[in-house]
Amino acid sequence: MCGIVGVLGSHEVAPIIVEALKRLEYRGYDSAGIATVDRGTLDRRRAVGKLVNLSDLLVHEPLAGKSGIGHTRWATHGAATIGNAHPHRAGRVAVVHNGIIENFRELRAELAEAGIGYETDTDTETVALLTELHLDQGLTAEEAAARTIAKLEGAYALCFLFDGEEDLMVAARKGSPLAIGHGDGEMYVGSDAIALAPLTDRITYLEEGDWAVVTRDGVTVRDARGALANRPEKRIRLDNVQVDKSGHRHFMSKEIAEQPTVLGDLISRYLDGAEAEALAATPDFAKVDRLVLVACGTAFYACHVAKYWIEKLARIPVEIDVASEFRYREPPITAGTVALFVSQSGETADTLAALRYCQGKADHILAVVNVAESSIAREADSALQIHAGVEVGVASTKAFTNQLGVLALLALKAAADRGATPPEELERLRGTLRQMPGILSQALVRDEAIAAIASQLAEATDVLFLGRGPMYPLALEGALKLKEISYIHAEGYASGELKHGPIALVDDKTPVVVLAPRDALFDKTVSNMQEVMARHGKVVLITDRKGAETASDGTWHTLVMPEVDPLFAPISYAVAAQLLAYHTAVAKGTDVDQPRNLAKSVTVE
Ligand code: F6R
Repeated sequence: MCGIVGVLGSHEVAPIIVEALKRLEYRGYDSAGIATVDRGTLDRRRAVGKLVNLSDLLVHEPLAGKSGIGHTRWATHGAATIGNAHPHRAGRVAVVHNGIIENFRELRAELAEAGIGYETDTDTETVALLTELHLDQGLTAEEAAARTIAKLEGAYALCFLFDGEEDLMVAARKGSPLAIGHGDGEMYVGSDAIALAPLTDRITYLEEGDWAVVTRDGVTVRDARGALANRPEKRIRLDNVQVDKSGHRHFMSKEIAEQPTVLGDLISRYLDGAEAEALAATPDFAKVDRLVLVACGTAFYACHVAKYWIEKLARIPVEIDVASEFRYREPPITAGTVALFVSQSGETADTLAALRYCQGKADHILAVVNVAESSIAREADSALQIHAGVEVGVASTKAFTNQLGVLALLALKAAADRGATPPEELERLRGTLRQMPGILSQALVRDEAIAAIASQLAEATDVLFLGRGPMYPLALEGALKLKEISYIHAEGYASGELKHGPIALVDDKTPVVVLAPRDALFDKTVSNMQEVMARHGKVVLITDRKGAETASDGTWHTLVMPEVDPLFAPISYAVAAQLLAYHTAVAKGTDVDQPRNLAKSVTVE
């Protein structure tokens, strides 16, 4: 959450920082701000709401200077007001922060003893105030920042700028990622390499506890103990960080449409290409007694689908949990356990903490991530990339599909290791996966039909999603997608659970989306659907041709999906669920790519 940028440039930096913040706005959009040093003088501009408000402000009140820092905020402490917007300033110091300073109350007390009060509701202001106090005590800018950093508890990525210092930024990382970019006579700081992509492809990632002194000549990194640390400079692939809408109205619609391509690329990489080795190098599942799958949100639902696949094909007991519960539950992790963490960003604070809990306990820690250099990828014993490309829309779409792709391939690998499913059946399922991109393309053709259903769904205040077997987690994911971007209250249930309570919600105003390919349990799901229709519920049946032939009587709408092996149907039916949410949100006129209260990368717990 929150995006931070710093630039020591050779030109005016305000426009450069605004451009970089645009690429970070997915991390939060409650407010934005910039501070610069111009001819030795520190100044700042801040605006509430989206970045465009800051850009407008800068037109009327420009900010000169060749050194600057910027911030886009997802509010943690304190409402989205100008006063709480970053950069925070105290005297000669300005600071931008991503994370939470957990001991800020203690630090405020320490400041109070020195007669220093505070003006904002934020935890970050204490960082600026403390640093200014340290300057007053006679320390240099670097020393003052270092002494402050040493006092901080919690999670932070920080970047400091100082009055009178045109060639200095101090950056620090603990619990929130931070990248240093190298230019020609220019230096940059960014929450991630995406922000810096148009500026440089030469990146040094700070590690946990690192802090760095950045000048135009380069960067000096020290570790948490203060020892000089040699962090490598890496070249990142710029083609991975292209972020434009390619003619689509929203990033989400572009990312939904990209799914056949990115899934096709993923499957060929893992079955025939460069990633086949990475898959083969995962643990020998014949020696594994138990798998623990942990993630948050959509990534958790991908794990939930995978539980069905792995238990069925590989016959390994699979436990799944959301990271925020897992990390504090102190679950016993016994020998023979492989722990698997799924995260698009690779930076989700709860998932990272859950991973760290398993270090030294699980036989092997495996990560499934979209960002190769992310903390989760680096701290796992091994990582499988989902190669979805940058996902900008806050609601996850193509990352979910490609997480499912990797998890399906992993299930097949585990099944082969254990000899739990006949080889010819595994080969048939590999063939099904190879066909999946084509099936996704056919699913996308349903766009108009889904938009028509969505235009009516947009009238609803509550929507239920039902599914059985691997379609149950997809019902949960469909409900999550709908609620997060259309703000319609939606819940997903296992079809069989309906009569144990949720059916009380059904009336003639309640749409019930039934995700039901014609599988072995189809008739049971149809019975549950009949129970809904008997109570005048409005059923949207999403099924295949055969399912529609037998069960579409009396439904409100029936959407016919392309034929697919029911085991892997969650992959193609995800497209329908995503398009349903997307078109409903468009019909309601909500902010599809940046829905209220959300942010893309959740680096606070
Ligand atoms: C929902 C969504 C979130 C994320 C969750 C985990 O559309 O995107 O639920 O899936 O915040 O994020 P990652 O995968 O980055 O760990």
